[in-house]
Amino acid sequence: FSDFLTDTFNRQHDYLRISVTERCNLRCVYCMPEEGVPLSPPRELLTTPEIVLLSSVFVSQGVTKIRLTGGEPTVRRDIVPLMQQIGDLRRHGLRELCLTTNGLSLHRKLESMVEAGLTGVNLSLDTLDPWQFQIMTRRKGFDAVQRSIARILELNRAGAGIRLKINCVVMRGVNDREILPFVEMTREKDIEIRFIEYMPFDGNKWSKGKMFSYEEMLEHIRERYPTLEKVRDHKNDTSKTWHIPGFAGRLGFITSMTHNFCGTCNRLRITSDGNLKVCLFGNAEVSLRDILRKVNNGEPIDEEALATLKQLALARRQDLSNIDVPLTLAPNSKELLEVI
Ligand code: GTP
Ligand code: 5AD
Ligand code: SF4
Repeated sequence: FSDFLTDTFNRQHDYLRISVTERCNLRCVYCMPEEGVPLSPPRELLTTPEIVLLSSVFVSQGVTKIRLTGGEPTVRRDIVPLMQQIGDLRRHGLRELCLTTNGLSLHRKLESMVEAGLTGVNLSLDTLDPWQFQIMTRRKGFDAVQRSIARILELNRAGAGIRLKINCVVMRGVNDREILPFVEMTREKDIEIRFIEYMPFDGNKWSKGKMFSYEEMLEHIRERYPTLEKVRDHKNDTSKTWHIPGFAGRLGFITSMTHNFCGTCNRLRITSDGNLKVCLFGNAEVSLRDILRKVNNGEPIDEEALATLKQLALARRQDLSNIDVPLTLAPNSKELLEVI
């Protein structure tokens, strides 16, 4: 494993998240304002050849898992050809190619994505009620999302082996009464439902009262399903996994607000405008795009950028395990969109 991706806490950064667009076809209330987020001029965004080149550099250094995120990755027009080219890196050590999506138009592109090498889908869905969907996402599209889920399960029955997780952000007084129906989905279906603690960022009107904590969720679920039991988590999981004996699927909890998981975080991030970030909460960034473009033009790369890159690559991060996450968490919405 390349030293390039190993940090001073001996975390090996073998998981790269790439935001392939800032745009989204939904307007989830906890994520974006009604009018959407300001978009960068196109020339500032990574082109497809640039994304592929960066992916291959990282895979050559030991990255084995790439997740494409957004915004909503499927709104990028050439998402399928992009995935085909990244999928080709399987020959060079890439083992997982995953997508985080709202599922709205996934069903149309799913087959070709699986052919390209898609191994996992994390699908955002906060409600099982079409009306509530429209309230929470400010758009129609519930049926389309259901179609995507059904299609994944159908392909899996035929042996596709796509790992499906559903991300559900729980907001008190908004969708908390849907926790149990979501749990019920795991009875017959081999899905992991992941309940996410609602996080604050600029303009999403977060309040402590609207946050539903991990402990509360567990207590609530245990009342109905007393046999709920803990499952061992994988080394770098951000979620804590639980299971109800006899059920086909599993439950996960992303506890960003109450228990941070920095000690096991192995994620690197590239924003849609080409910045490398090692931490969701850190501000240190370096523009890989500028470096790439300079190299392409035969221009010298400035010392400062190289020094930052080296520093980031070595990921000499502060030990974050003691931070009080709710207090330090203040990324603005654009930053958050870029990193998730
Ligand atoms: P897998 O582990 O591959 O399933 O992916 P993931 O959970 O990292 O990806 P996903 O895009 O589904 O993100 C789910 C949630 O985890 C989102 O709410 C992210 O904001 C959050 N998340 C992802 N990485 C980090 C991290 O390093 N720190 C924190 N606090 N949250 C993260
Ligand atoms: N709090 C918690 N989760 C959020 N996500 C987006 N915004 C927030 C927030 N404010 C989730 C989305 C998606 C995942 C990548 O991040 O629902 O599933
Ligand atoms: Fe779009 Fe995801 Fe944000 Fe919803 S949470 S508006 S689907 S980027």
